[in-house]
Amino acid sequence: MIINIEGLEFGYSSVPILKDVTVTMRGPRFISILGPNGVGKSTLIHCINKILSPTVGTVIIDDRNVKDISIKEMAKMVGYVPYSANDTFPLTVVDTVLMGRHPHSHRGTLDSDLDIVYETLDMLGILDLAMRSFNELSAGQHQKVMLARGLAQEPKVLLLDEPTSNLDVRHQLEVAKMLKRLSRVKEILVIMICHDINIAAKYSDEIILLHGGTVFDVGTPKEVITRQNLEVVYGVDAKVIDDEGVPHVILRDSIQEKKQLEAGVTVPETRDTATEAI
Ligand SMILES: Nc1ncnc2c1ncn2[C@@H]1O[C@H](COP(=O)(O)OP(=O)(O)O)[C@@H](O)[C@H]1O
Ligand SMILES: [Mg+2]
Repeated sequence: MIINIEGLEFGYSSVPILKDVTVTMRGPRFISILGPNGVGKSTLIHCINKILSPTVGTVIIDDRNVKDISIKEMAKMVGYVPYSANDTFPLTVVDTVLMGRHPHSHRGTLDSDLDIVYETLDMLGILDLAMRSFNELSAGQHQKVMLARGLAQEPKVLLLDEPTSNLDVRHQLEVAKMLKRLSRVKEILVIMICHDINIAAKYSDEIILLHGGTVFDVGTPKEVITRQNLEVVYGVDAKVIDDEGVPHVILRDSIQEKKQLEAGVTVPETRDTATEAI
């Protein structure tokens, strides 16, 4: 399973958001896409799963241009777990996850589909939610159910848009670890957009770092998560330490604040720089 993106450009208007994106993702592997807000991470995965079509360039999955692959075929090959949208399904958890079996549909539901759904819920540790109504669950539980729906689809490529954003630290670790295991056990290509650099660094085989609408760096976590890269791409002053071979980032300050402090400019205590950055 290889995804080859070649000279991809995409814009929602005449202004390109992504330009000259060329990258190869090879499975079975667990790959993270990192980059600041608005850089085009979600847009890029939408170009892979055919929600969007590149203006220029190509996306090739196993020697086939995605533009020549039917929607139904794509749904069998590529699973997609969207950014935790405020989706509501007036359904039980089982029925919501069963929707993931739709691309493989036959008439009605087979016992084997239900078996896959229950196995997936079990694997994610949410078997007890099976008969609950999706709409009454917490954000973290929603996220796990949506993840289960993507897994139940049994795709060869699984794309996940910030699958850990609503989870507490323990569940973030567990989900990332499970995604890595899944890439091995099911021999699939798992591609996750992630905001937590340390989670991505700890579990990913490879990291694709986006900046300025294009691929700024790609490689192993050790190669990509460097002080220099974090400074240029995120505008932060960070210390990167080696935690048993895995890079671990300690954030110190935003570059802007650091420069102001060095220049002797006092920063008001109450200023919410995190919000301003967004
Ligand atoms: N449907 C849309 N229409 C117009 N602009 C959009 C749309 N979706 C995203 N954008 C813009 O495209 C840029 C990249 O967005 P996105 O891919 O969502 O970034 P990321 O996922 O990296 O945060 C942003 O500037 C965003 O405002
Ligand atoms: Mg996004």
